[in-house]
Amino acid sequence: ISLKPYNTFGIDAKAKHFVSVATIAELIKVLGLTEYPDKLILGGGSNMLLTKNQDLLVVHINIKGISIVSDNNDSVLVKANAGENWHEFVLWCINKDFGGIENLSLIPGNVGSAPIQNIGAYGVELKDAFFSCEAISLETKKIETFIKEDCHFDYRNSIFKQHAKGKYIITSVTFNLSKHNHKLHINYGTISTQLDEMKISNPTIQDISKAVISIRTQKLPNPKEIGNSGSFFKNPVITKLHYQTLLENFEDMPSYTVSDDEVKVPAGWLIEKAGFKGKRFGDYGVHKNQALVLVNYGNAKGSDILELAELIQKTIKRLFDISVEAEVNIL
Ligand code: EPU
Repeated sequence: ISLKPYNTFGIDAKAKHFVSVATIAELIKVLGLTEYPDKLILGGGSNMLLTKNQDLLVVHINIKGISIVSDNNDSVLVKANAGENWHEFVLWCINKDFGGIENLSLIPGNVGSAPIQNIGAYGVELKDAFFSCEAISLETKKIETFIKEDCHFDYRNSIFKQHAKGKYIITSVTFNLSKHNHKLHINYGTISTQLDEMKISNPTIQDISKAVISIRTQKLPNPKEIGNSGSFFKNPVITKLHYQTLLENFEDMPSYTVSDDEVKVPAGWLIEKAGFKGKRFGDYGVHKNQALVLVNYGNAKGSDILELAELIQKTIKRLFDISVEAEVNIL
């Protein structure tokens, strides 16, 4: 079957075998199918680039359900199953006035994939509201619980991209959310500007969600209209020393401090400076409003987009001596 409807890049790669599972019992049954030793686990398909047909069994995780697992005066623990759409889950929380993930509004993908790359936007990361997750071990077929400390969350990183990669399937995630006295995160530049434009001085979590939705719809292409996987690259971390030398030639190069001797540089800036922003090559290219996003205008092949990504990486290496790493999974 074609995986086109199952990946936000809209790449028309084929899966040799495909199954969608709606319960944990079904998932365990499928994992036991010895005639298909190689499996690809698919969530929302929002962080992958398919560069070829997949000669294996694709297992689509479609386990739904949201429940409140505990409730006290100040906070709640809310458990969402892996197949819930991330943004619909955020809206569910905002409607109940549960705070903590409003800055993560409108991020594509499903709940089960969110911890893998510790999704983040506008000054908040998933880890800030994460309580625990459950995952099936592919080896034992048993469910294990990972608390926050187990997950080794870092910028667009977790144990599920490191030691535990390919060894577990996340089946649910539990979040610790505030019921009142919400801790608001409005310091990220574009958020405060947006709230000012909306003439809001005492924002609620609902206002913050609206502000984020507004920024994202202006800057980022809607995958339903133009195929994409959000940021294609991670923002690179370089030494302060390296940054100082670069400033001699590129005095407007932005940076964010990450430690005493390291800074993070926006890859979007590097790509724009390298001349790629808004460039279109047939059916694929670099988005016009955010250079960090590669796009498929229709029938691009994953391998074309990968070639463009490699050209961008080489150019940035040559111009700035910086290596930018892909954020999306190349399959
Ligand atoms: N910039 C440019 N040109 C561009 C894009 C960005 O010069 O075309 C520079 C500007 O200086 C701008 C700065 O980059 O001020 C930061 O841009 P932006 O606020 O859009 O954030 P980003 O660093 O490009 C990151 C995340 C996004 C997230 C935003 C907002 C990564 C890889 N990306 O992008 O996450 O939405 O911050 O918090 O960290 C994603 O991961 O898929 C994603 C969209």
